[in-house]
Amino acid sequence: MVATAAIVLAAGQGTRMRSRLPKVLHPLAGRPMIEHVLDSLAAAGIEHRVVVTGHGGELVEAALGSSAANARQDPQLGTADAVRVGLGRVPRSVRHVIVTMGDVPLLPADLFQRLLREQAEGEATIALLSARMNDPSGYGRVVRGDDGRALRVVEESDADAATLAGDEVNAGTYCFDAEWLRANVGQVPASASGEYYLTELVELAAGSGRRVAVVLAPRAELTIGINDRVALAVAERLMRTEIAERHMRNGVTIVDPDTTRIDAAVEIGADARIEPWTIISGSSVIGPQAVIGPNAEIRASGIGARSVVWASVVEESSVAEDVEIGPYSHLRPGCQIGPGCRIGNYAEIKQSALGAGTQQHHFSYLGDADLGEQVNIGAGTVTANFDGSQKHRTVIGDGAFIGVDTMLRAPITIGPGARTGAGAVVTRDVAAGKTVVGMPARPIEARRRGSRSQDDA
Ligand code: UD1
Ligand code: CA
Repeated sequence: MVATAAIVLAAGQGTRMRSRLPKVLHPLAGRPMIEHVLDSLAAAGIEHRVVVTGHGGELVEAALGSSAANARQDPQLGTADAVRVGLGRVPRSVRHVIVTMGDVPLLPADLFQRLLREQAEGEATIALLSARMNDPSGYGRVVRGDDGRALRVVEESDADAATLAGDEVNAGTYCFDAEWLRANVGQVPASASGEYYLTELVELAAGSGRRVAVVLAPRAELTIGINDRVALAVAERLMRTEIAERHMRNGVTIVDPDTTRIDAAVEIGADARIEPWTIISGSSVIGPQAVIGPNAEIRASGIGARSVVWASVVEESSVAEDVEIGPYSHLRPGCQIGPGCRIGNYAEIKQSALGAGTQQHHFSYLGDADLGEQVNIGAGTVTANFDGSQKHRTVIGDGAFIGVDTMLRAPITIGPGARTGAGAVVTRDVAAGKTVVGMPARPIEARRRGSRSQDDA
């Protein structure tokens, strides 16, 4: 039986963002803002989560997937109306309902738990989260009575000068007694703007002699509501700082947190070292003792233990342990780099697998290639993988030695231990252990015989 549920309001247009993208899908530390809210609720142990969608509903629902139930609010008549709609998806067995905003993404899980405790154990009808802001503009103000309980919340547009002077704001997050909420959410009068404000419930409860408890957030900055892109950047910085500090406490060196960006889902092993001007995004996993940067970008990739990525870009690829990459290399999506490989300078690799100990040096391109172990790719080597309409694969066996400036016209297979001469243009498969030279490349014995007969003439 579910006793507690959460309703997350995310149906509003977010006009102040001036964006085509629904506000709650704007990314924060690499993930849609609303995912942070849902994660935090999950971390607080609240398993039943309902998101109220409306503006851009299809997009928001697609992004949510199965992480929450959703309820459509159409038209969007205000936050009280949104809660009324959300309650339709909350089981009758639920006795405590947390309501929070999809655009308040930094609230830690323990604040939800505290609200729940204050409401449930303090026998309050509502527990409301407040914060003292240096700049309270844009938020509703909490008005308290002499006994410290909340009397009402006044929206900025409705507030007189005395109320506006108060610095205690409504963070937009509450825990309600479910039964009282079901009975009263429809009783809210329309505001001057014609919207139904959820904040009216505070006065409704307090006015009928019920207890409205207030939890003052210990860190006001974490209650920030994202109404425009300036607030989005403020939240981004706060979240990045938290992420960097979490990794540092876990034993990761971040040389210069101010120039390092690490997405929320990234995992980093102990004793890894993140050098300045580095971006690690998506659900990348960095192994212990790896060194990333300076000037590296790792997107949705795995980097093995002790590997080094210096001034290079790695996208959607997996790099094993003890690999050295860069400077100035680009691994495009779909690469698997085996242990001990050396890649760079100016190497580009796409959709390719490199076996253990393989080396690719100096301005060279491998695309759609499968390389064995201990292969040497000479400077300037290129796989000609595209014939103008289709892509073809190149296969290179263990221990092959590809000479500088070799062109490999795919589809093609170079056998284990085979060699190509400098400047070879290889258009036919090369058998294991054979050496080919020239343009087009031919077995070296044939070439020697050919030149001798020419000399004889
Ligand atoms: C709201 C509060 C304000 C509080 C602030 C905290 C109200 C009336 N005001 O103001 O007291 O200080 O949050 O950040 O509640 N939404 C819907 N359906 C609607 C309207 C809005 O789902 O019909 C959603 C929005 O998508 C948004 C959230 O509710 O995620 C808050 O709406 P918003 O317009 O941003 O309210 P604020 O003006 O910030
Ligand atoms: Ca808001």
